[in-house]
Amino acid sequence: MSRYLKITKRIGLIGGIGVAGWALDKYFYYSTIQRNVKTLVTGVIISIDYKLNFNEHSDINALHTRVANLILDLCKNNGGLYIKFGQQIASVPVLPPQYNIFKALFDNAPCVEKKVVERIFLEEFGTLAQNIYEDFDYEAIASASIAQVHKAKLKDGTVVAVKVQKPEIQKQIYWDMICYRVVIYALEKLFDLPLYWSADYIEFHLRQETDFINEAKNAEICQHHINQTDLKKYVHVPKVYHEYSTKRVMTTEWIDGFSLAKKQELVDNNISLPFVMDTIVKVFADQIFRVGFVHCDPHPGNILVRKTNGAPQVVLLDHGLYVRCTPKFVDEYATFWKSLFSLDIDASSRIAKSWGIEDLNVIATATLARPWRAGKPIHSTKTTITDLFEAQKNSKNRLSKFLKNTESLPKELIFVGRNLNCVRANNKMLGSPVNRINIMANCAAENAGLKWQTSGNTFRGEEYGLWNHLKSGFSKLMFQTTLAMISLSFKITQIFQYLGKLISGKGSGFEDVMDSNMRRNLESMFPGMNINESAFDG
Ligand SMILES: Nc1ncnc2c1ncn2[C@@H]1O[C@H](COP(=O)(O)OP(=O)(O)O)[C@@H](O)[C@H]1O
Ligand SMILES: *[C@@H]1O[C@H](CO)[C@@H](O)[C@H](O)[C@H]1NC(C)=O
Ligand SMILES: *[C@@H]1O[C@H](CO)[C@@H](O)[C@H](O)[C@H]1NC(C)=O
Ligand SMILES: [Mg+2]
Repeated sequence: MSRYLKITKRIGLIGGIGVAGWALDKYFYYSTIQRNVKTLVTGVIISIDYKLNFNEHSDINALHTRVANLILDLCKNNGGLYIKFGQQIASVPVLPPQYNIFKALFDNAPCVEKKVVERIFLEEFGTLAQNIYEDFDYEAIASASIAQVHKAKLKDGTVVAVKVQKPEIQKQIYWDMICYRVVIYALEKLFDLPLYWSADYIEFHLRQETDFINEAKNAEICQHHINQTDLKKYVHVPKVYHEYSTKRVMTTEWIDGFSLAKKQELVDNNISLPFVMDTIVKVFADQIFRVGFVHCDPHPGNILVRKTNGAPQVVLLDHGLYVRCTPKFVDEYATFWKSLFSLDIDASSRIAKSWGIEDLNVIATATLARPWRAGKPIHSTKTTITDLFEAQKNSKNRLSKFLKNTESLPKELIFVGRNLNCVRANNKMLGSPVNRINIMANCAAENAGLKWQTSGNTFRGEEYGLWNHLKSGFSKLMFQTTLAMISLSFKITQIFQYLGKLISGKGSGFEDVMDSNMRRNLESMFPGMNINESAFDG
């Protein structure tokens, strides 16, 4: 009897410690331990599943579905930075279509309660929000993975937006980052894909996003650069109120405007979509090709449009994540674009090689969707599982090879690519009102120096004679011809789009056509990978 009692007691004790530990973890460490255990267990399950089932005898599609669901559940359960990570996954175009489900992570996150907001204000300012502001609405108007936004009024009557960081983020970030590294490292070893090279860089940038002092600084630098251009009348960044801002609370000027995500509202209010989109493409092209300080998250939720004196004005929000490019990269990247459009294969290959990329096709396609050249026909449809397996294995090898020389690959490309992708998706969502490619190419050419000739020994700077002069003239002519052709195909596409809308109610815009081209090109380069077109819209 006493033995049973002892065992019961012991079980009770262990159970009690377990429950206490769980409660401690949940309430004081914001579930750090549980979250990390979940990550590691998920990692182990996925690894085993792949090792056992990524072969010619298994159903690869079912495997992808299982793994995608496991990772998605993990992101949803763990929240915070995991949502950011999941959003990244949603925008990788070479993942199998099963990863479409990651789109769900773009939906709004739940708000935290009034009590929690009060505590954050006490910690940050030593007093409650109602003592700082004339008015503070505890009901948040928006909530995302890291923060939520409240409307408030300063003592002088100015209406402001107050961005409040969710409390768990700072506590979780340390372990989240370690876990992130473990997972990336495991994926690298498991699939023999070079991934870990980017971990430091990505971690550095994700950390920045959790520091609103940094975000405030970025916003001002962004405005400063806009002020240097002709765009300053048409682009605005909300003013920051530093005296009401800390690492976890940021107060900015309130903007009454329409979200870029709401196309119909823009149309109903007579806002010119071509004008708005032209402005957006130009301001980010300027960041990429001239300034080298680039907003990494220009998705439609982070862009407002308002009317000032009748003209539409674009307002840029959410400056948490910026990439600072080296001047060398800015110059090379602008030259790379310019040479692609001048059909100067020498110059573009040379730059790609200096980045450790031997495969110009892949990078050119990823950058531009090669709009001036028709894609090769789609590869034969895969019928058997063995075919599919072989094809996916080969594609993986090609991808590995493509990324082999990762030491020389500019890491800026990760985030600049993200910017390009968001702007592309915005244009597409609005029905492709502008020819984004030409606007960007012109901006690249303007900033890649005045000399047109980019090949040969006199790469920028030195004296050059008649021969080089001719070459340069030719290069410029090629550039203009290419742009004229793209312009023509843009116009033709617009006509078909218009007719399509008249006849069937829907028409494909220029970005839709380019996406299909890109998909075809990527699929012919990576056979067996089903390129998921909507992944481009992340
Ligand atoms: N200054 C502002 N004026 C009006 N609304 C704003 C302002 N700042 C943010 N918002 C609203 O709050 C939302 C979230 O703000 P954002 O800065 O993008 O935070 P997050 O980093 O959480 O995405 C925006 O999409 C916008 O609707
Ligand atoms: C940008 O210009 C406006 C007015 O032209 C000025 O009020 C503002 O202070 C400038 N901002 C920066 C960061 O230079
Ligand atoms: C938009 O323009 C139309 C016609 O020009 C006008 O009737 C309508 O009132 C305008 N709408 C708004 C919101 O300005
Ligand atoms: Mg945002």
